[in-house]
Amino acid sequence: MAKNNLINLHCFNTEIGKLGFDEDRNVSFFQYNPSFLSSGLYANMFPLIIRRMTQTQVFDKYNNETFKGLPPMIADSLPDVFGNIVFKAWLESTHKGLKKITALEQLAYVGKRGMGALEYLPSKEVTGDATINIDEITAIVEEVLRTKGEAKEAQLNHAALLNIFKIGTSAGGVRPKILISENKLTGQIIPGDLVYAGEYDHYIIKLGITEGLSYSKEAVEYAYYLMASAAGINMMPTKMIDNKHFATLRFDRQNGEKIHTLTASGMSGLDFKDPAASSYENLFDLSIYLKLPHKDTEQLFRRMVFNLVFANHDDHLKNHSFVYDKEHDGWGLSPAYDVTFSLNPEINFSKTSRALSLNGKRVGIALQDILTIADKYTIKNAKGIIKEVQDVIPLWNEKAAELAIPDKIIASIRKDFMTF
Ligand SMILES: Nc1ncnc2c1ncn2[C@@H]1O[C@H](COP(=O)(O)OP(=O)(O)O)[C@@H](O)[C@H]1O
Ligand SMILES: [Mg+2]
Repeated sequence: MAKNNLINLHCFNTEIGKLGFDEDRNVSFFQYNPSFLSSGLYANMFPLIIRRMTQTQVFDKYNNETFKGLPPMIADSLPDVFGNIVFKAWLESTHKGLKKITALEQLAYVGKRGMGALEYLPSKEVTGDATINIDEITAIVEEVLRTKGEAKEAQLNHAALLNIFKIGTSAGGVRPKILISENKLTGQIIPGDLVYAGEYDHYIIKLGITEGLSYSKEAVEYAYYLMASAAGINMMPTKMIDNKHFATLRFDRQNGEKIHTLTASGMSGLDFKDPAASSYENLFDLSIYLKLPHKDTEQLFRRMVFNLVFANHDDHLKNHSFVYDKEHDGWGLSPAYDVTFSLNPEINFSKTSRALSLNGKRVGIALQDILTIADKYTIKNAKGIIKEVQDVIPLWNEKAAELAIPDKIIASIRKDFMTF
């Protein structure tokens, strides 16, 4: 029997619309809440793909691994590889009866706890004969939240993080990570998807529990954070916990409010796994389409240069995001994240090609290619920006040594840096 499920999409305490999914056809549907549309509020929250009309819209072009048949901006709410592993393992250990979990059921599991500001609530209009598990998932979420609500740790340290990690989380990305809220006054920490309030600092933490490596990936990412900040790249304040874990403040939680964010991939429907769609030009074009202030376009150029100089090849379209300003109904570039050395410094081949091409190239990129981009997007002082980024190179040896990264790894990473 066809499973034709429904879930409600909310944002900023407003019902935005309803999302349906036809599992037999792997096609999704979206219908705006008419009173939301006529209110004229947040008119720009989905600037692409979803049209502002009252009729039901069908999405049949996104039936792939990245978007799972959902509208791309909704698929952005699904946890990536790591979140899925935790979710599935947890479900299997607690609810053996559940079969394959559908995309809508995963959204129901995300509920109000997702990254960004989009929230998914069970729709009251679901009829009894639909073979849905959304109610069941919602019951499970309540159970998770109860368990999580009991989890409190006195302070932010290694043991506390591991305890909270055992409960599972829903952050995206590929490396083990958890969301944590730290009380600004008492220092007490609780799982990060329970509350959003001004009295907490909200962190996303990459856990340094990788086995069998001769160095800490988190320490490398922290050294990159220091270098990127020195090179004028805007990043959220970040710290190391017990020299092991990489903790960065969340840009989707500010002053007790949720901030609506979308990745470049979710915003545009460009599949971050598709090389043909993955170019810096697409990213710049998107920024122009979104009417980003020119300083953001320039910041994007600086990030591109940094990724080239410091061999961050994992600069794909899900590693760039935009943040929505609901007061002005406009978009800006998010702080940078996942800026690190992306190759394996323990292996002696380093010439894998980067995720985003520029000027049609993924390898053998030269100064002229960078300047072509600068010209196309009217970046003034491109050479000055390149110099400012390259001036940071000496910081690598200094910071990496302070962070006790082994000499061999420091040298191995250093040899992949490029100058133009
Ligand atoms: N500081 C942050 N604030 C809010 N969201 C973030 C932040 N850093 C990362 N994210 C989100 O979390 C996801 C995973 O983080 P990322 O650093 O890319 O981890 P991974 O190395 O596993 O890919 C990102 O795709 C992004 O959407
Ligand atoms: Mg990432």
